[in-house]
Amino acid sequence: MAKAKPRKKSVKRMAVAPTPRFAIAIMAAGKGTRLKSKRPKVIHEIGGRPLLEHVIRAATQVIPVKDIFAIVGHEADKVRAAVQHTGVNFVLQPQQRGTGHAMMVARPALKDYDYVMVLSGDVPLIRPETVRQLRDFHLQNRAAMTILTALPENPAGYGRIIRKSKRGDAVKAIVEQKSLKKAQEKVREINSGIYAFATKELWAKIDKLTTKNAHGEYYLTDIASLLVKAQKRVLALPAAEVMEVLGANTIAEMMQLDAFMRLRKAETLMSNGVTIFRPETVIIDTEVEVGADTVIEPFVQLLGRTRIGEDCRVRSFSVIKDSVIGNGVMIKSGCIFDDAKVAAAAIIGPYSHLRPGSDIRENAHVGNFVETKKARLGRGSKANHLTYLGDAEIGEGVNIGAGTITCNYDGVNKHLTRIEDGVFVGSDSTLVAPVTLGKGSYVGASSVITDNVPANALALGRAKQIVKDGWAKAKRDARTAAATVPSKKK
Ligand code: UD1
Ligand code: MG
Repeated sequence: MAKAKPRKKSVKRMAVAPTPRFAIAIMAAGKGTRLKSKRPKVIHEIGGRPLLEHVIRAATQVIPVKDIFAIVGHEADKVRAAVQHTGVNFVLQPQQRGTGHAMMVARPALKDYDYVMVLSGDVPLIRPETVRQLRDFHLQNRAAMTILTALPENPAGYGRIIRKSKRGDAVKAIVEQKSLKKAQEKVREINSGIYAFATKELWAKIDKLTTKNAHGEYYLTDIASLLVKAQKRVLALPAAEVMEVLGANTIAEMMQLDAFMRLRKAETLMSNGVTIFRPETVIIDTEVEVGADTVIEPFVQLLGRTRIGEDCRVRSFSVIKDSVIGNGVMIKSGCIFDDAKVAAAAIIGPYSHLRPGSDIRENAHVGNFVETKKARLGRGSKANHLTYLGDAEIGEGVNIGAGTITCNYDGVNKHLTRIEDGVFVGSDSTLVAPVTLGKGSYVGASSVITDNVPANALALGRAKQIVKDGWAKAKRDARTAAATVPSKKK
């Protein structure tokens, strides 16, 4: 259908309000003392990614990454290194004197923005929908500050929201756990540590923060009451899902969030046609993709950027990382894959170890206690038992006998083993690289192959068999004779 041309007449000249300039600042400079860990809290992982990366990814789905600033401080280099691939900007808070201080330090970087949303690097389940909702609510209500809140079962440890009245969205103050008065302890509505601010209002009050509190820090939360005293509008917006605003201040809390996130991932996969038995036992990272009708058994781990096709089965205790699996692949129990490729209808395992650069083609079989590294196993080829294939190019329809070893390393360099189509390698063979087995050739069992084998040839690299007729019987007879004590002649 032809597109209707816009009618020029209808285009009126109107004064259009300039698009508000929005930034997101993510506070991630704290040490995370309550974690009792040597590593900074925000780079601890849940769902296979650092806490901070989850927050950055939620933010980048709402505004461009050029407008997102991560405030780093404690072990800043490590934190930067963990998330710099996201393209986020960094602000350095060299000394961590509280969440209010973090925003004081970020002020110059945010000078060109009309609004800033503040997220916490340790509140990782926040969804982009909620960040968007917070922005829209804040703009529609022309608030100076909007606080994202929640009503968890157990509010202990969080700052509490003191509302102006039971009705309406207006907030009077945020009171930190340690400063709660007896009557306020009953308040269940918590501060998520996620806010939207009109920057003008925030900067007007930020220098008024003091450190007169239980921690001797500048609390960003105190901005709420400072704005209220100045007759500015401070509102609360309860989040739709409690879990998404829960913080991770201890390892136990972090693991609860991890379990929740993984269950959420498993549920998403199941809603797309993947069968997962006992989903509470599997560990599936956020980015993993699995096709419909694939079955995942209990205690499987699918990690990193793994992609699995349709109609596969992944049996228990397999750990698959950064690997690409085609359709209809069977992965038996106890396999370990790392950066491997497996094409359609291949059968792997049990107990196969596919290391980086493994490239298993259609219908190939890799069996128990077989290790591959930088090795292509061509279509329909089989290496079913007790084998090491490293730095190897193996063609189609090849049979690799049990106990075959490619000797790829001479102590200094790695060398290539080439096995062309249709080769038969007998069991317990040692292929000393660099070496080529020509098309259709045959290697006798237990050979040590050091030279190239021409196409269609038989290569035997083993000691010739010697047969001594009657030798075993003679030995036995001699032993029996020695054991028989001759009776003394009278
Ligand atoms: C904060 C809130 C609390 C809220 C809770 C929600 C304050 C004073 N309190 O408490 O009301 O219920 O979050 O999770 O804000 N950070 C910096 N620089 C600093 C200090 C902290 O960047 O100088 C960062 C931390 O790395 C962390 C975030 O700010 O990602 C929050 O700090 P944290 O110490 O965890 O605050 P909470 O005690 O959880
Ligand atoms: Mg916290």
